[in-house]
Amino acid sequence: KVYRASTTAPVNIAVVKYWGKRDPKLNLPTNSSLSVTLSQADLRTLTTASCAASFADGDSLMLNGELSDISGARTQACFRELRARRAALEAADPSLPKLSQMALKLVSENNFPTAAGLASSAAGFAALVQAIANLYELPDSPSQLSLVARQGSGSACRSLFGGYVAWRMGDKEDGSDSMADLVAPASHWPNMRALILVVSAAKKGVSSTSGMQQTVATSGLFQQRISNIVPANMASMEQAVKARDFAKFAEVTMRESNSFHACCADTYPPIFYMNDVSKAAIRAVESINAKAGKTIAAYTFDAGPNCVVYYLDEEAPTVLGAFSDVLGSGVTGWKEGSAGVKSSVK
Ligand code: DP6
Repeated sequence: KVYRASTTAPVNIAVVKYWGKRDPKLNLPTNSSLSVTLSQADLRTLTTASCAASFADGDSLMLNGELSDISGARTQACFRELRARRAALEAADPSLPKLSQMALKLVSENNFPTAAGLASSAAGFAALVQAIANLYELPDSPSQLSLVARQGSGSACRSLFGGYVAWRMGDKEDGSDSMADLVAPASHWPNMRALILVVSAAKKGVSSTSGMQQTVATSGLFQQRISNIVPANMASMEQAVKARDFAKFAEVTMRESNSFHACCADTYPPIFYMNDVSKAAIRAVESINAKAGKTIAAYTFDAGPNCVVYYLDEEAPTVLGAFSDVLGSGVTGWKEGSAGVKSSVK
């Protein structure tokens, strides 16, 4: 008998950035972070997990049709944690099939370019963890599963909820309080939109994992960021989301992106993720807001040159119109060469 379960997990884009680990092994962050979950119609990972006593060759993962290396400590940590949780259920109820002892086969597909700086590791690990949790019929809440997904990739712990999600850094050494929770469901602020401008779909230069470790080790500015800037931004961002205050949401989002990239520039040697097209996108957002006489758009960048612009649905004509004028040929786009992807927030 083959046991099987499928799930999808969405991409999330942080508006308060996770950048820095206090424990690289357990993937414990130096600061809390907060993200907006994107619509699964546009960006998601679909993962099917199966297991059977007859699967003889050990665990495996196919990602976008290719066999993927699962020997890494992070993937192994996720498998181990989920198996332990299943084994506890089996110990409590001996009538349950011993799925925890069977090899796992995972098949995973993204509907967007992998490793293009589009948070593929977040959706990927979230889907992997959720699919196995479904297969094992674990009673764990999304927050409890976020403890496992975090060990796969930090940002993945924010992709299990939908809506507006906070990852609380926690202070315990074993990481048992470093987990995500739901700040507000997507329905709380349903007119939020994200435009993703794919400046380059090439694989990024410095991975987030290694970039953030270099920043922690060498940037003086970073100390100021984690002790003062991020705690204040977390508080403002939560208030902005709860009050649906777009101007405040936008200002904190842009300041956060700038602060994160300033710390990258302050890393020694410096790390540059944004390129000239990225900077043109920042100018475009500034000119949209100046013309509107109020803040109607906010940019943010992760560990790559691609730009995510948040705006409200009622401002879509103004924001999208301005982008097609200003950026023109600089944006390579994706999906039939469109200038970007309009994504509703899940
Ligand atoms: C800039 O979650 O990819 O996107 O934990 O090492 O896998 P690892 O890092 P990862 O880092 C994401 C960094 C970021 C900001 C964010 O998503 O909060």
